[in-house]
Amino acid sequence: MLQVVKTTAELRELVRRVKKEGRTIGLVPTMGALHEGHASLIAAARAENDFVIVSDFVNPTQFGPTEDLDAYPRTFDADCRLAEAQGADVLFCPTPAEMYPSAEDTWVEVTGNITKVLCGRTRPIHFRGVATVVTKLFHLAQPDRAYFGQKDAQQVEVLRRMVKDLFFPLEIREMPIVREADGLAKSSRNVYLKPAERQAALVLSQSLFAAQRAFAAGERRTDVLVGQVRQQIEAEPMAEIDYVEAHALPELTAPHAVLDVPHLLAVAVRFGTTRLIDNVILDPRTR
Ligand code: PAJ
Repeated sequence: MLQVVKTTAELRELVRRVKKEGRTIGLVPTMGALHEGHASLIAAARAENDFVIVSDFVNPTQFGPTEDLDAYPRTFDADCRLAEAQGADVLFCPTPAEMYPSAEDTWVEVTGNITKVLCGRTRPIHFRGVATVVTKLFHLAQPDRAYFGQKDAQQVEVLRRMVKDLFFPLEIREMPIVREADGLAKSSRNVYLKPAERQAALVLSQSLFAAQRAFAAGERRTDVLVGQVRQQIEAEPMAEIDYVEAHALPELTAPHAVLDVPHLLAVAVRFGTTRLIDNVILDPRTR
């Protein structure tokens, strides 16, 4: 039975009991509006841990002043059903005041290149908000493993750095991108798309898959692969590019001219007012 927990005090008490019994904890941080992408993380947490906590919190501090905090979809009842169906034990859904109790703020900030490139460039406070809320969740839930999607690949790398630098005693587990049948990466923001935009948005996965095929066929020139994706997206009139870039993993450093180490090939593109992201990993060791 899924238990809905709203306060930090209640969650701490539950976690204390679970830890005392020597049971392992898996944490799946989310902002709700749960879909099959989230479900895959919960299922993985269920398979690998004794106790599964899903957090459902639209974190205000990771949204910029002109972003979609108010419009962000909130589907609490459906979230409960999905979390329960995947075998979660707890759905933690605090209020903003519960998560940010003081008037003054304490921040966790991962600095350097890793938070400045890609989404960090156009969303300057975003990763500080993510790192701060995830730190709070880690302290509250005390997970042995925490589950994140490759969909937000930069977020995973930022959180890996945070976990390493701050000695969090847990393992970050990264799960593959879950897609619609036609290739569009599942996202809570897909509901914003008008039908024509939804159709146009297919260019993201199609262009990334084409680059993946070219890479598999032996193309190793980074600028050729990035250029190919950019060209394909530019050919879609409804698409307005934020970025099309490759960065070396894991630190998202400058791309190598020749893809001799794993790279993240990532795109962020606007369709109308909706900004979508997608990516593939090009790994010369496996492809
Ligand atoms: P949210 O966008 O709700 O995503 C929660 C988790 O689900 C993230 O780790 C994300 O990468 C993963 N996810 C989303 N779509 C996915 C897909 N199609 N396939 C696989 N995984 C997918 O990311 C956040 O929330 C927030 O930044 C959060 C980490 C909760 C901090 O507030």
